[in-house]
Amino acid sequence: MPGFAARFLLVCLLLGAAGIAAAQPAPRLVPLPRSMAVQPGHLTVTAATPVVADGPARGAASRFVELLRRTTGIAPRLGAGAAAGAIRFRTVAGMAPESYRLEVDGSGATISASDRAGLFYGGVTLWQLLTEAPARHGRLDAQAVRIEDGPRFGWRGLMLDSARHFQSPAFILHLIDWMAVNKLNRLHWHLTDDQGWRIEIRRYPRLTSIGGWRRPAAAPGAPPLPRIGGYYSQAEIRRIVAYARARAIEIVPEIEMPGHALAAIRAYPELGTGVAPPPGIESDWGIFPYLYNVDEPTFAFIRNVLDEVLALFPGTYVHVGGDEAVKDQWRASPQVQARMRALGIRDEEALQGWFTARIGRFLESRGRRLLGWDEILQGGLPANATVMSWRGIEGAVAAARAGHDAVLSPAPILYFDNRQGTSAAEPPGRGNLVPLADVYAFEPAPATLTGAEQAHVLGLQANLWTEHIRTEARAAYMAFPRAIAVAERGWSAPGTRDFRDFATRLAPQLARLGALGLAPAPSAFRPEEAMRFDPAANRVSVALSNQAGSEIRYTLDGSAPTASAPLYVAPLDLALPARLRARGFLGGEALPGELDRLYDPASVRRRDIGTLKLCSAAIPLALEDDAPAAGPRATFFIDVMHPCWLYEAAPLDGIAAIEIEVGQLPFNFQIGRDVEHIRFRPPATAAGEVEVRAGGCDGERIATLPLAPAAPNPAVTRLRAPIAPRHGSADLCLTYTARGPNPLWAIRSVQLVQRR
Ligand code: ACM
Repeated sequence: MPGFAARFLLVCLLLGAAGIAAAQPAPRLVPLPRSMAVQPGHLTVTAATPVVADGPARGAASRFVELLRRTTGIAPRLGAGAAAGAIRFRTVAGMAPESYRLEVDGSGATISASDRAGLFYGGVTLWQLLTEAPARHGRLDAQAVRIEDGPRFGWRGLMLDSARHFQSPAFILHLIDWMAVNKLNRLHWHLTDDQGWRIEIRRYPRLTSIGGWRRPAAAPGAPPLPRIGGYYSQAEIRRIVAYARARAIEIVPEIEMPGHALAAIRAYPELGTGVAPPPGIESDWGIFPYLYNVDEPTFAFIRNVLDEVLALFPGTYVHVGGDEAVKDQWRASPQVQARMRALGIRDEEALQGWFTARIGRFLESRGRRLLGWDEILQGGLPANATVMSWRGIEGAVAAARAGHDAVLSPAPILYFDNRQGTSAAEPPGRGNLVPLADVYAFEPAPATLTGAEQAHVLGLQANLWTEHIRTEARAAYMAFPRAIAVAERGWSAPGTRDFRDFATRLAPQLARLGALGLAPAPSAFRPEEAMRFDPAANRVSVALSNQAGSEIRYTLDGSAPTASAPLYVAPLDLALPARLRARGFLGGEALPGELDRLYDPASVRRRDIGTLKLCSAAIPLALEDDAPAAGPRATFFIDVMHPCWLYEAAPLDGIAAIEIEVGQLPFNFQIGRDVEHIRFRPPATAAGEVEVRAGGCDGERIATLPLAPAAPNPAVTRLRAPIAPRHGSADLCLTYTARGPNPLWAIRSVQLVQRR
């Protein structure tokens, strides 16, 4: 190795001296490799190019051919032995786990690594080199390079919640493809929760026949929605695990305990503490009080379940949850209290510690390691347990200081159910804004830890919870491209933090992902507008930006913006009516996501979920309407603790009326006693009223819109009320009166209507 490193350095110096490295633009690879020397020339690959591999490398070689075939239609021949002009996969001794060397020149390419993951990743990098530009006449070109590469962290993860909403096995395979080509290596699969049990357990069939199904909540009085759910058969899971393994991904199953256990308790009530779950409660989101009891038959159940789980998932880690186990039922249960006293356990937190330690010992006896959310620290951490830090990074810091391994997946920054842009086109999710750039800026190694403690940080992981992510397309959208930022933070050296450079390398990767079957979010590239309307001049001033900070080009004639369209440099001053279309460009290439806006007298006096502000942000959610049962549904943006919206600087000159689109949502959130803090002004009519105030939420009430016409409609209703003549602009505050939080009323849009 030292000999190689010295030669490698010499090559770089020679190339640098000859000015060749500077003359060749570096290939746009993601995650950024540890070292890359760009060299003169390129390798051309066609369907006739031989791909050769030694025995252990054949899997990686065939994955490489499959990637090329799926994304370009060009499938080189997989063979054996030595062939001129070949792509060669070879197993060598002495390289670090997951690391590889890739040498490409005009006469061939060689990938060397010591393990299957390294060989696979070398193939992924070569595939990226070959697909930076589209194929021409059945030929692909790769820049000549010499790459030495390996990961910074061994845990580069993504968690998928298949319990809240079920995704098909086909989607899981797609997700694995996407993860693999970004060198993500852990799929943490959240398979059980209050709302669903998704893994077939042969010994306990009711877990899936009962616990695998639920009926989504609907607004009070609305027709019931169809039952939803599903589960993965053991045969499907075996196939998924093998597919992931062939792509260097370990699937870490999560079986939640002692809380988030309602689906299991619904199926087998004897596992609970004797409190019968009311029918339909599984429609709710939030934190439920249903915990497993601590009797011996329950531990036998868990061991039996885990035995079937371990037979399906051969990896080292098993996640046992441990989060949000509110102890009310343990406190109230005479049996639990008696057991706790008999065991000499001080309190319910310590009881959870005892519970987790038992499971940890069981897993250890089977050669596995327990992983849990950071709450497992509270009751005393079992030996050998690994902590997944989600309530900030403090759990990881505490675990590492105590000599335990930790994975960082803090909320909200690595919670990918949060929105990644403010556009009304963003799908439902949690309401914090987590843009791609913020994820990219996240540093996984807490600075407060010493070097020795930092060695306990295994890496990082993003979590995709799916309470509000009903469809697979939306799950893909929320996960990517933000998961690519996680991949680069987990793989590349800590100093590589230039977001513009990352965005530049991301553009071709997004095109590759599209070719692999699903659509990533354009949010980081799509132009966002800040519009100011001048009613006196009947003009708007529109400022454009995008998260990636790329060039933005625009048109005003309705045509699609191209690389030769005018470049946006300063806010546009437009007379009404005007149509603005804008798109990001990088190096002359169009980026995903277009802004297409019509500014006319009505649209400039309208606010929607992208432009209405919330008055507060206690539990901000972008919630999908529960109706209609089939077809598109509206999305609302609401703080469920305080439903209240602001239309800032509303132009009130010449306005005769206000129109408001409202929808009703079931209040299906388990938030314990916090529900008592949701307060409303008392209603004047049975169904309540939307109230509009000018000059903020304590200002004069200028319109009242009875909700009675909307009450029988489970979908969106448009309400209208007159406004007395006013001058100038004012901040409008919109709230409603009610006797309680069910249903929630949510405002989708506000339209100021001009006097004719
Ligand atoms: C979690 O978000 N409850 C781990």
